[in-house]
Amino acid sequence: MDNARRLQYLEAMGIDVWIPKIVMQPAQSSLLAIESNSIENPVQCVEPDFQDAENWDALQTEVATCIKCSLCETRNRTVFGSGNKNADWMLIGEAPGQNEDLQGKPFVGSAGLLLTEMVRAIGLAREEIFITNIVKCRPPGNRNPKPDEIESCGDYLQRQRMLIKPKIILAVGRVAAQTLLKTDEPLAKLRGKVHSLENTPVVVVYHPAYLLRSLLDKRKAWMDLQLAVHTYKNVEG
Ligand code: URA
Repeated sequence: MDNARRLQYLEAMGIDVWIPKIVMQPAQSSLLAIESNSIENPVQCVEPDFQDAENWDALQTEVATCIKCSLCETRNRTVFGSGNKNADWMLIGEAPGQNEDLQGKPFVGSAGLLLTEMVRAIGLAREEIFITNIVKCRPPGNRNPKPDEIESCGDYLQRQRMLIKPKIILAVGRVAAQTLLKTDEPLAKLRGKVHSLENTPVVVVYHPAYLLRSLLDKRKAWMDLQLAVHTYKNVEG
């Protein structure tokens, strides 16, 4: 990604970037260092092995035909998740909204656009990562998913995690963070730290729908993303 493009993404996130008069050498810029993993050099998407492919198909069919909770009565489409099935990065949001319910894809509304910009700002393309939600069907009126709905969908998410084996998980927003980390702590206490879910590091980030309303927290969101990049680099070794 060229520098001008990156600055555009950061600007869209409300992040001011200080540009020194002396032009930095790429190696001196930590932001540019992140670009070593940039979308111009996308991670090779390796096809899952045969067994995994069968498991993926079975799981996708189960989700598409799920009637485990009452959300199946009001949904238009299930939203399984999308992206690279061998992703190092797995992003987990809360639940599909109206656009997602109509299109069957996660994060395609205005919050999705911002999420896409957020990941691009750290040098990743959507196709490189896997994005899904805690629950796979839209709660009516975009209310928070209820505990029994989260419970019913838990097995699907667990199996997705087992198949993808991500190196890092981003919990996007409070509901995702509290569900994955099995805690009632507020998001403010959960962000800014590296948690662990069965030995996979979990970094909590603000939900983009919240960031669209709260300009002031966009800077903190950028710090969270940098923590995630730093954590990923450590895991990768
Ligand atoms: N919000 C979410 O948490 N997930 C989506 O897929 C869309 C909006």
